[in-house]
Amino acid sequence: MAATLEELARRASNCTLCPLAAGRTTVVFGVGNPSADLVFVGEGPGREEDLRGEPFVGRSGQLLDRLVLEEIGLTRDRFYIANTVKCRPPGNRDPLPAEVSSCRPYLEAQLEIIDPKVVVTLGNFATKLLLDTTEGITRLRGRTYPYRRGTLVPTFHPAAVLRSGGETMAKMRADLIRAKEALEAR
Ligand code: URA
Repeated sequence: MAATLEELARRASNCTLCPLAAGRTTVVFGVGNPSADLVFVGEGPGREEDLRGEPFVGRSGQLLDRLVLEEIGLTRDRFYIANTVKCRPPGNRDPLPAEVSSCRPYLEAQLEIIDPKVVVTLGNFATKLLLDTTEGITRLRGRTYPYRRGTLVPTFHPAAVLRSGGETMAKMRADLIRAKEALEAR
C-alpha cells in the first residue's frame, strides 16, 4: 500500500473511502515511534482526537499513558498508537463493519511497516478485529496470542477502566506486565 508511514499518512489524510470522511475534522492516523517494538490499537477517534488529530489525547489517553509508564516504563515517543478506524464515528458510536473494512488496510499497512514485537489491543473492538473472533475481551484477555511476526496482548479499553475502576484497572496492569515480558523475550 505504501512504503513509509509518512506516505501512508499522506494518503489517509485525503481518504474518502467511507462515509466517516464527511464528518471528520482531522484524520487521526497514528502517532509515535515508527520503529517501535510496541504498538497499541484502539477503536476510533473521539471528539478531542478528531479536533487534535492525535489518538488517545482525552481522559482515556491520559490513563493509558500513566499505566504504560508505570507498568512498562515507556513514554509516548517510545511506542506507537493507532486506531482501527482513523475518522471519528458520529456521537462516538461503534464503527460500522463497512467503515472498519474500508479503513483496515491502513492499520494493516501501519503494522506491516512498523513490524512491532508486541501489539496490545485496547478493548473489544480492536481485539475481536485483529484476532478475528467474536469472543469478548473478558474471555480473551489474560494471555498472549501469536500475531504476525510477534505477540498480541489483549486488554481492556482505558475507557472501560475509567467506568469500572479498581478490579478492571488491576487486570489492565497485569496485561501491560504481560506485554512488557513479551517485549523482553527474545
Ligand atoms: N478511544 C479510542 O479507542 N481511540 C482514541 O483515539 C481515543 C479514544
